[in-house]
Amino acid sequence: MDISIFGLGYVGAVSLACLARDGHNVIGVDVEPAKLDLIRAGKTPVVEEGMVELMTRVVASGRVSVTDDVQKAIMESEISLVCVGTPSAPNGSQDQTAMQRLAHSMGKVMQRKAAPHIFVFRSTLVPGTVEDTLRPIMERESGKRDGTGFHLCFQPEFLREGSSIRDFDKPPYTIIGASSPVAVESLRRLFGHLPCELHATSIRAAEMVKYCCNNFHALKITFANETARLCEALGVNCFEVMDLVCRDRQLNISPAYLKPGFAYGGSCLPKDLRATMYLAKTHDVDMPLLAGVQQSNRIHIERAIAKVLDSGKRRIGVIGLAFKAGTDDLRESPMVLMAEHLIGKGLQLRIYDPDVHLSSLIGANRRYIEQHVPHIGALVCRDLQTVIAEAELLIVALGDRDTLDGLRAHAREDQVLVDLTGISHPGEIRGNYVGLCW
Ligand SMILES: NC(=O)c1ccc[n+]([C@@H]2O[C@H](COP(=O)([O-])OP(=O)(O)OC[C@H]3O[C@@H](n4cnc5c(N)ncnc54)[C@H](O)[C@@H]3O)[C@@H](O)[C@H]2O)c1
Repeated sequence: MDISIFGLGYVGAVSLACLARDGHNVIGVDVEPAKLDLIRAGKTPVVEEGMVELMTRVVASGRVSVTDDVQKAIMESEISLVCVGTPSAPNGSQDQTAMQRLAHSMGKVMQRKAAPHIFVFRSTLVPGTVEDTLRPIMERESGKRDGTGFHLCFQPEFLREGSSIRDFDKPPYTIIGASSPVAVESLRRLFGHLPCELHATSIRAAEMVKYCCNNFHALKITFANETARLCEALGVNCFEVMDLVCRDRQLNISPAYLKPGFAYGGSCLPKDLRATMYLAKTHDVDMPLLAGVQQSNRIHIERAIAKVLDSGKRRIGVIGLAFKAGTDDLRESPMVLMAEHLIGKGLQLRIYDPDVHLSSLIGANRRYIEQHVPHIGALVCRDLQTVIAEAELLIVALGDRDTLDGLRAHAREDQVLVDLTGISHPGEIRGNYVGLCW
């Protein structure tokens, strides 16, 4: 293919070299003349393993050219990869000056280019940038519409400095955020041969995935380091601990616990996290990440309570009381906290949980209900259909098939549905749908 690449830093220069190596004709564009001169001379503008040899080879092949002329680059290519820098502004926001300036220039060129052109944004961009900022600029400047005169899409870049060429050839996956199949098909032609999954999604989701991945990486590093600080204070080998933590592929290094839903609770996570925090305090170890976890969990519960109160409804059906499905354990269940709060606000509650029946509860659970939440025990009803029938608003905290079937069969159009589990999609169940996070 004939490809133009805007921005010849780490991402752009490596992409240029690898795509030319793969047989494509590539035009590189940058505003820094020194970078263009280096590439013309067959040299690399970035220090990266394998780039010295690769750049010499691809420039000698004649498939690489460079320019500072945006018009020439777009006219002589069918697809553009945009890799200009998006650094931090002093207030922490993303500085999109270079990107927006380039969007103006690209739009102007598209006023003159008859053939439709594909623009692939590969720079990291805050969600909404392509559709809310760049698309309006380019449509205004070109007088054409995205989807007909040109096609905009977003493909996050996952390469890491130091191993960029290897990462280019073996990314974790290819994500294409696009609103037209034309862009997806072109990118499939360019990157479909790579040994990884290819997923097409919305532009906004693709923009968000990139941030989510980087934030997750930062979170993992900080979690390991915080753990290491506590290990050091306790005289425990942190490398051994983290190595063993990572060997659990079932619950730790896995999708487990990574699906959005309601707050955590139960008889283990809250108390063990509290004990960890106390232990750290007694050893003068700061663990702000874990402290933030407790705070964030509280915020999640408060948000769910606010959604119910904001609805103005008074008769509330609670489906699911235990901290998760398949157990009758109510200790530190966030649903119990939520129910108590709503009762305190004077709302009328009926509660259904197939595993929680006061008559059959024994031992610690029965004691817990009788001592801590006796008023909640009296509100528990054995029948899902009755709870649905009596409620103006349903809080769904059980994500099992029977609950979903029960809701499908009995929920009414006039009911508000607060789904804390993500089991259903808006519209799937009758009612005025209020998701917790969407
Ligand atoms: N560096 C990485 O490992 C990495 C990995 C994934 C994603 N990203 C993202 O990719 C983007 C680029 O990162 P980078 O590290 O390659 O940046 P960089 O700063 O190394 O390079 C950016 C290049 O863009 C050029 N440029 C600026 N304005 C231009 C314009 N109007 N026209 C043409 N070129 C212009 C600059 O001169 C510079 O050479 C950023 O959004 C970054 O967040 C970077």
